[in-house]
Amino acid sequence: MKKILVTGGAGFIGSHLCERLLNEGNEVISLDNYFTGSKSNILHLLNNKYFEAIRHDITLPFFIEVDQIYNLACPASPIHYQKNGIKTIKTSVMGAINMLGLAKRKKATILQASTSEVYGDPQVHPQPESYWGNVNTLGPRACYDEGKRCAETLFMNYKEQTNTRIKIVRIFNTYGPNMHPNDGRVVSNFIIQSLQNKDITIYGDGSQTRSFQYIDDLVEALIRMMNTSDDFVGPVNIGNPNKFTILELAEKIIELTKSKSKLVYMPLPQDDPLQRQPDISLAKEKLNGWEPKIQLEEGLIKTINYFKKIITNT
Ligand SMILES: NC(=O)c1ccc[n+]([C@@H]2O[C@H](COP(=O)([O-])OP(=O)(O)OC[C@H]3O[C@@H](n4cnc5c(N)ncnc54)[C@H](O)[C@@H]3O)[C@@H](O)[C@H]2O)c1
Repeated sequence: MKKILVTGGAGFIGSHLCERLLNEGNEVISLDNYFTGSKSNILHLLNNKYFEAIRHDITLPFFIEVDQIYNLACPASPIHYQKNGIKTIKTSVMGAINMLGLAKRKKATILQASTSEVYGDPQVHPQPESYWGNVNTLGPRACYDEGKRCAETLFMNYKEQTNTRIKIVRIFNTYGPNMHPNDGRVVSNFIIQSLQNKDITIYGDGSQTRSFQYIDDLVEALIRMMNTSDDFVGPVNIGNPNKFTILELAEKIIELTKSKSKLVYMPLPQDDPLQRQPDISLAKEKLNGWEPKIQLEEGLIKTINYFKKIITNT
């Protein structure tokens, strides 16, 4: 039995990860300040004696005995991370320093949830890990993108200077149950608008493409990455390379929800990337042949069922 700390454990990805790690027989501690996460995401885990939920902000130091740390704490959607950009940077940078310090002292392995946003508005498609990215340091997304880029640098410096055992994954667009219903992300937005037969807002002309990864595929990859040998630290892209236009996504969701919603078009927000698609060759090679198993329709059905329950309960 390992003792595993998950920062951001009450969030969308963190709650699924905590559940899976508990099911595999580990002791799991969630550390969360509940900014975007919610106790309802982990309510079903609270009666498991091997689970502990602690309210804590990772911009402050935290001490505990642990074997592994998954560092997921950080608001992930523009609506939330732009609310207080300074705090977002502090969470990424000071949070990383605090958690790396803990990993160093306890000789624990620490995994950083980095992001495809480190590639900014990419000029290389699909994006391999070797691509350095195209980020506007002054733009509205910079507090998130640059915070995550700096966290990656810190992870590498801790490894090189102090031999801390690190792993870096760059997560691409992920969706599934427990997503925040009002965070403005495209999958949750479209599903909620469709279920309520409201207009579906498409930013731009809908021809921009995205690839969407179902949460279970991501969790599998995170655990495989954490348990790779010490010499492989990443960064490694984790995402589903199948791409769809935003218009195709909207039409699929309308079909699956049998919705009467109509499409309405709004201007594209500043610095919104036109394309994003992971190159996952490295993940396949290093993570034991890992690749996404759940394709869009299957994942959307599970997510739609989740949001149906949320909407009826509110
Ligand atoms: N969901 C995606 O598609 C995606 C893509 C790329 C990267 N990521 C990364 O994965 C991680 C988890 O994302 P998510 O989608 O689950 O987002 P989320 O907002 O649902 O989860 C983040 C969690 O961190 C908590 N948190 C935020 N600031 C904190 C702080 N200072 N101290 C302690 N807790 C704090 C929040 O309350 C929340 O529970 C984030 O680091 C995000 O950047 C997510």
